[in-house]
Amino acid sequence: MKPVEIAKGIYCLPAIDWNIRDFHGYSVYKGSTYNAYLILDEKVTLIDAVKKEFADDLIKGISQIIDPKKIDCVISNHTEMDHSGGLSRVMHRIGEDKPLYCSKMGHKNLSKHFQQKFNYHPVENGGELNIGNRTLSFMETRMLHWPDSMFTYAKEDRILFASDAFGQHYASLERFDDEVGDEIMPHARKYFANILLPYAPLILKLVAKVKEIGLALDLLCPDHGIIWRKDPSKIINAYVEWSEQKPKRKALVIYDTMWHSTEAMAEAIVESLGDEGVDAKPLKLRASHRSDIITEVLDAGAIIIGSPTLNNGLFPTVSDFLTYMKGLKPQNKVAAAFGSYGWSGEAVKLINQELEAAGFKVIDPGVRINYVPDEESLEACRELGKKIAQALPA
Ligand code: FEO
Repeated sequence: MKPVEIAKGIYCLPAIDWNIRDFHGYSVYKGSTYNAYLILDEKVTLIDAVKKEFADDLIKGISQIIDPKKIDCVISNHTEMDHSGGLSRVMHRIGEDKPLYCSKMGHKNLSKHFQQKFNYHPVENGGELNIGNRTLSFMETRMLHWPDSMFTYAKEDRILFASDAFGQHYASLERFDDEVGDEIMPHARKYFANILLPYAPLILKLVAKVKEIGLALDLLCPDHGIIWRKDPSKIINAYVEWSEQKPKRKALVIYDTMWHSTEAMAEAIVESLGDEGVDAKPLKLRASHRSDIITEVLDAGAIIIGSPTLNNGLFPTVSDFLTYMKGLKPQNKVAAAFGSYGWSGEAVKLINQELEAAGFKVIDPGVRINYVPDEESLEACRELGKKIAQALPA
């Protein structure tokens, strides 16, 4: 680990996970980074403790700056194990009696994750901690990303340590937005779509609150990926846009197929949408990762799901995707279903049930085709495409 001084006396300690490719079901093809931060002041303060596998790496990083035993206190902004997994090892190294500051929910959740009793100091929302020449203030950010999540703001330095918010799963030697450039935005967008989308209404409230109190920011420091230095407002404004989920004239035809019949239907629907001036994409589930599809879902106005009927049910990849999408609660989209079948043909009905349960407005009963679509069947698919196009914004 190579510590990077991000402001005078404040260091980023990045545990770079170059080789991770699956982050609890989310494909992270550029790896990830778990950032901890060290503040040198009268009370030397460590913020967060990275993933367990990188705990020794973190201790080595700290040792390049200061003897770890000189750390006076630790702040845990979030319990999830990619930021707290190394806590036990780190506390053992720096002294298990050192104060550990966290939110009240953090106290509860950390106590459930670790057997040993740390010297917990639960903090209030808006509470402050003076560490010498600096004041750290705490802001509860429940459900961003867990009930225990909070931000820590270094007032004098105008630095916000934002835990999961504003992060990206991205492994690189660069530490700042101005070093990486616009390449980072697709990663930030994918991270938002797959991690924070269910909490979009809370994000809008949080951003409004941050603007209301006029929180000044020189650095916006997430626990994943690069730090926003050049223009922290760029990612904050992007979060507002992504949270609003204003539908575009864009439709995704998400499907899987057994013997290409459902695929032929998907192609007819996409072609028809394209003829109507819709930005339409076919996304076959065994060719596109669910987390990449969800990133596309973010600004789509319509989702059309196709599945063959397999053993009276849905094709497994379609079930997988519907479950994943339902949990992420995308908003403001119309939807429809289609699929081929041999003899029982339940798939379209099952998709409609799932779409309605997930809060989508299903605008058509759907198209079911027996075995192989003929020209008349394909015309029914094209008509579905037209109907979807009419329901989208101009
Ligand atoms: Fe990066 Fe919710 O943990």
